[in-house]
Amino acid sequence: MALLEARGLSVSYGGLYANDDIDLDCEAGQLVGLIGPNGAGKTTFIDAITGFTSITEGYVTFDGEDLAGKRPDARSQMGLVRTFQSLELFEDLTVRDNLLVAAERPRWYSFLADVFWPGRGKQAALDQVEVALEALQLTDLADKHPSDLSHGQRKLIGVARALAAKPKLLLLDEPAAGLDTKESQLLGDHLRSFLDLGVSLFLIDHDMGLVLNVCDYIYVLDFGKVIAHGPPAQVRADPAVIAAYLGESAGEAQAEAGASASRRAGVATPATEVGDE
Ligand SMILES: Nc1ncnc2c1ncn2[C@@H]1O[C@H](COP(=O)(O)OP(=O)(O)OP(=O)(O)O)[C@@H](O)[C@H]1O
Ligand SMILES: [Mg+2]
Repeated sequence: MALLEARGLSVSYGGLYANDDIDLDCEAGQLVGLIGPNGAGKTTFIDAITGFTSITEGYVTFDGEDLAGKRPDARSQMGLVRTFQSLELFEDLTVRDNLLVAAERPRWYSFLADVFWPGRGKQAALDQVEVALEALQLTDLADKHPSDLSHGQRKLIGVARALAAKPKLLLLDEPAAGLDTKESQLLGDHLRSFLDLGVSLFLIDHDMGLVLNVCDYIYVLDFGKVIAHGPPAQVRADPAVIAAYLGESAGEAQAEAGASASRRAGVATPATEVGDE
């Protein structure tokens, strides 16, 4: 059984099916990508599995448990942690404290742990913050405030904050938006390193270079439906995928389709924007 399984998942907004009968698996230990044109329903899918929007039909299991009826905070406690497309950082807190807020997730039994082992929960959260800072090479910026940092650094802090919550599956909604090619490639390298920390990943991004290079498996959405899925090499050569991007950036999609090597194989391919950020 996959870590996350969506079956027949549909989300209707007043009759418009933003997600339409989606079957999707995220295997533990993998980085799974979701791509598709603007308005295809990518964010809706993350909203649906994290409990931020209601599922009209179908179901989702996480770690073997049906998520029906579970609130977003309960899903996050289970290890299903998301980022948002629009990044909100706490501007008055340092980078480290921005992460600490996410790392300290008190559970109902925390007060017992505090009685018998004072400070243990806090120390675990502090340790997790340092792991997250290190994973994104942000340790040197830990005492700065977000307003002192570049857009690229702020995006990385958003990812680090979600990592500090110690997810089993981390769902990232366009973490590379607004990053330049070099920053995006660096982010890709960081994301692969999360797998070594035991964190599985689900990545939405319009940067085709990033998604094709770092993902183990990719799903493609168009008008709410999965139109293709498979390993990157298969997806980038799929005529339905190239057609879905016609009118947007067919040239880039076809250039990617012709790319024969991936960065993981040790050869650089240029990151390409598909979409209209
Ligand atoms: N809360 C909502 N109420 C009504 N319609 C919505 C809502 N959220 C999304 N939609 C609609 O559902 C469709 C899918 O939107 P969604 O944001 O999931 O797309 P997306 O693939 O994430 O797009 P983008 O690449 O631009 O972020 C769009 O037609 C959108 O207008
Ligand atoms: Mg979106």
